[in-house]
Amino acid sequence: MPQHVIIEPFRVHTVEAIAMPGRDQRENALQRSHYNLFGLHADEVIIDLLTDSGTGAMSTKQWAGMMLGDESYAGSRSFFKFDSVVRDLTGFSEIIPTHQGRAAEKILFSVVANEGDVIPSNTHFDTTRANIEYQGAEARDVVKHEGLDPALIAPFKGDIDLDALRATLADPSINVPLVMCTVTNNSGGGQPVSMANLKGIRALCDEFGVPFFLDACRFAENAWFIKTREDGYADKTPKEIAQEMFSLADGCTMSAKKDGLANIGGFLAVNDSDIAAQCRNILILTEGFPTYGGLAGYDLEAVAQGLVEVLDENYLHYRIRSVEYLGEKVSAAGVPIVKPTGGHAVYLDAKALLPHIAPHEYPAQALAVELYREGGVRGVEIGTLMFGTPQEEGPDLPAQMELVRLAIPRRMYTQSHIDYVAEVVIAVAQRASEIPGYRITEQAPWLRHFTMKLEPLS
Ligand code: F0G
Repeated sequence: MPQHVIIEPFRVHTVEAIAMPGRDQRENALQRSHYNLFGLHADEVIIDLLTDSGTGAMSTKQWAGMMLGDESYAGSRSFFKFDSVVRDLTGFSEIIPTHQGRAAEKILFSVVANEGDVIPSNTHFDTTRANIEYQGAEARDVVKHEGLDPALIAPFKGDIDLDALRATLADPSINVPLVMCTVTNNSGGGQPVSMANLKGIRALCDEFGVPFFLDACRFAENAWFIKTREDGYADKTPKEIAQEMFSLADGCTMSAKKDGLANIGGFLAVNDSDIAAQCRNILILTEGFPTYGGLAGYDLEAVAQGLVEVLDENYLHYRIRSVEYLGEKVSAAGVPIVKPTGGHAVYLDAKALLPHIAPHEYPAQALAVELYREGGVRGVEIGTLMFGTPQEEGPDLPAQMELVRLAIPRRMYTQSHIDYVAEVVIAVAQRASEIPGYRITEQAPWLRHFTMKLEPLS
């Protein structure tokens, strides 16, 4: 019998009740949080698609593994299990656990980046960018042009523009301490990077003698896209593909809160033992001893098991298909989205849906607020609030795209939850022309989107 319905490849073992706040409660919550969805209490949200980071459901094997956690300060058994799984997967020789991805970034860049340096990537994630800028260096995005066109359908819209990368590397006035590539490209719509592009980056890095690092948060989802979209990979396992991806790099930063299938954790991995030694010295200062790096022994167990489970073909097939399912549903109803759907999220194109709201009046934030008001669905703005440049006088310089990301936590919501989300998105889209823009009333000097206050324009 042909299989049409792809089922969740797991059964629910423990349940967590969802709060069902009514419309009045949601309206009050919006006012109290000054229209910043980061200010909502989780119990005021019905379906929480704010992030896929640390929000997934762990497996019975992960929970069981946690009971085996060895909490020894130095030389914990759980560290050696974690170390051997990460080493087997990545091939890197120096594995440094951290409490999450940004801690790995902070440590790496404080060792390798200096004032005035340039660090190219397809698109830097906001914490990566902030950690680079904190060192006085420039985080330069060199994604291929097609990655900036939401409606364009192409298989690997996360690819780096190799000509732009070459131009940066060849410029004698610029020092590039390393090249990064984010797989999948979160800030560019969760779009994958092809193996051919990773090989091209490697070749350029070899030519100019510059190290190459992966931001590997969603390496398994990227591997699945390579398997299903790139010639020559259909018969390889996701693990073989992931190993090949890592083999092209000199190191990686990783947030295990994504494809580590854990609620907390991360690591920095490198081959260069001098860099590793400097990184471990900072690790001891800021995170902890090198065999726990800011994590409990049981967290290391959960990550070690998660990194194995995430490469299961049944899981990846379901994962990528279930995100695509939401994309197809809203798209069929005429809602503009970034196409094709990314690995971990559907990105609604607010610029196309709300052409009456100018970028400096935050169309993607306006859309995110309405999704919450309509059905208690929380997404996140990825547009001018997050990536625009505030000016001393006059409107912000706009971001390249105005998106609302609906990130799907791993193994958490069922198909009917997703059907409900589609209903809410479509209902909001039908009254798009009535949605007002916003103005900022208070903001912080960096990463302002987390804490800013807004009010609707009348
Ligand atoms: N790199 C990428 C591509 C990410 O998506 C994230 C986190 C990080 C680095 C930082 O990792 O959160 O463990 O410190 N992304 C989350 C998100 C927060 O919602 O996309 P972290």
